[in-house]
Amino acid sequence: MMTKKSEATLKFEDKEVSLPVVIGTEGDKGLDISGLRKETGLVTIDPGFVNTASCFSQITYIDGEKGILRYRGIPIADLAEKATFVDVAYLLVHGALPSEKERMDFSMLLNRNSLLHEDMRHFFDSFPKGAHPMHILATMVNAMAAFYPNVDVNTTARNIEHSCARVISIVRTIAAFAYKKSIGEPIVYPRHDLSYCANFLNMMFDSPVRPYHISPEAVRLLNVLFIIHADHEQNCSTTAVRAIGSAQVNLYATIAAGISALSGPLHGGANQAVIEQLQMIHADGDLDKFIRKAKDKNDPFRLLGFGHRVYKAYDPRAEIVRNECEKYLAATGIHDPLLDLAHRIEDTVRKDSYFIDRHLYPNVDFYTGILYRAMGIPENMFTVMFALARLPGWVAHWREMISDNTKIVRPRQIYVGRTQQEVSDDLEHCAKLHLI
Ligand code: ACO
Repeated sequence: MMTKKSEATLKFEDKEVSLPVVIGTEGDKGLDISGLRKETGLVTIDPGFVNTASCFSQITYIDGEKGILRYRGIPIADLAEKATFVDVAYLLVHGALPSEKERMDFSMLLNRNSLLHEDMRHFFDSFPKGAHPMHILATMVNAMAAFYPNVDVNTTARNIEHSCARVISIVRTIAAFAYKKSIGEPIVYPRHDLSYCANFLNMMFDSPVRPYHISPEAVRLLNVLFIIHADHEQNCSTTAVRAIGSAQVNLYATIAAGISALSGPLHGGANQAVIEQLQMIHADGDLDKFIRKAKDKNDPFRLLGFGHRVYKAYDPRAEIVRNECEKYLAATGIHDPLLDLAHRIEDTVRKDSYFIDRHLYPNVDFYTGILYRAMGIPENMFTVMFALARLPGWVAHWREMISDNTKIVRPRQIYVGRTQQEVSDDLEHCAKLHLI
C-alpha cells in the first residue's frame, strides 16, 4: 500500500504550503497536489500528462529506466514463459493467478459468453467494403450495451463479473467475424472445446472447404503475444477507459473508447504502421535515407516502432517478441526479408548517437507485425490483435477505478483565449473583412 511519509514545501507569493509526498510500494514518489488550488489558487500544467500520476493502481508496475514490466508483481518474461493468456487475464482482473478450480470456472465463463447475439451478426452487412476492422470493432462493442444491459457501475457484483468475461470473450468473436466478412467467407462460430487462443485462430482461419489445422506453435505464440500486450498501466487507451468510465458510462461504451484510442498510429496502430514502413523501406532499398529523414527536425518522418513515452531502456516486451520471431520463423521455415531489414535497422540505430542520446529503442510494435504476418494475420487486423490482448487490462482498470469510487475525471486548464468581447465588436470586425 502507499504511504505518506514526507512533505514538500511550495512557496508562492506570500504563501507557503506543505504538500504531502506519497510513496508507492516500489518507491515511486508523487506530490499530492489535490489541495493546491484550494490553498493557493494555483493549478498544475502538464499537457500530455508526461509528469502526472492520474491514480493509484495495484495492477501493473513499470520501471521505464530499467526496462521492468510486472503484472501484479510478476515479471512479464516469467508470465510469457509459464502462463496462458487466460491465466494472465484472470491475474489482471482478480489480482492473483487462478487456482485449478478458478481457472476452470473462468474458462467456462469465457466460453459461456463467447457467442455474439445473433441479431448483431447482421450489423456486419452494413459496413462498407474495406472498412477498417478497428472501426467495426469499436462500433460493435459500443452496440453491445443495447443487447446486454446491466453493465453500469451500480449493478451487482455478479453482473459485473459476467459482463467483464463477456467483453473479453465476445470481442474475440467480433474480431474474427469482422475478418471473415472482409474476405467474403462464412463466419465460423466459437467452440467450447477449444482454448481461448486456439478458438480465435480457428474462427479466423477455418473454412468449409479448407479445414484449419490448429498448430500448437501458433497457439503458444499467440498466448505469448497476447500476454505481453495485456496491460501497460496508464497508457493512452487505458487512460481513456478510466476517464470515460469515471462518468459511470456502461462497460461496453467504456471499452469502445479504449478501442478507439488504441487505433491511433502513435498507439496501437503503430504495429500496422511499422510493417507498412518496413515494406516501404524494403521496396526503396535506401535505409540510410530513411534514417537521415528520421533524424531531421524539419521532416515529420519518424522511425516507427522506436521510442516510447515510458521506456528509456529496451522495452522488455520487444525483447520477448524479437526472440519469438527467431524461434517461430525458424520452426515454421518462413523466411521474411522484413525480419532481416528490421535487424539491420535495429543494428544501425543502436550505434547512432541520435537514437542513443534520446534513449530510442525498439518498442513492442517493432517486431510484432512480422510475427502476425508469419501467422497469416492480415495487416489491417494487427491493431485488432492488440485490442484483443489489451481487454483484460482495460477491464482490470475499469474494475479498479469503480471500486475506488474515482471522482469523475475533469482536468482544469489555463485559458489563453480572448478576454471579454462584445458581440458588436466582432460584427464590426467581420464587416471590415467583408464577411457579412
Ligand atoms: N524516430 C525518430 N525520432 C524520434 C522517434 C522516432 N520513432 N521517437 C522519438 N523521437 C525523438 C523526438 O523527435 C524527440 O526529439 P527531440 O528531443 O530532438 O525533439 C525525442 O526523440 C523525444 O521524443 P518525444 O516525441 O518527446 O517522445 P514521446 O514520449 O512524446 O513519444 C512516441 C513517444 C509517441 C512513442 C514516439 O517515440 C514515436 O512517435 N514513436 C514512433 C511511433 C511508435 O512506434 N509508436 C508505438 C508506441 S508503443 C505503443 O503504443 C504500444
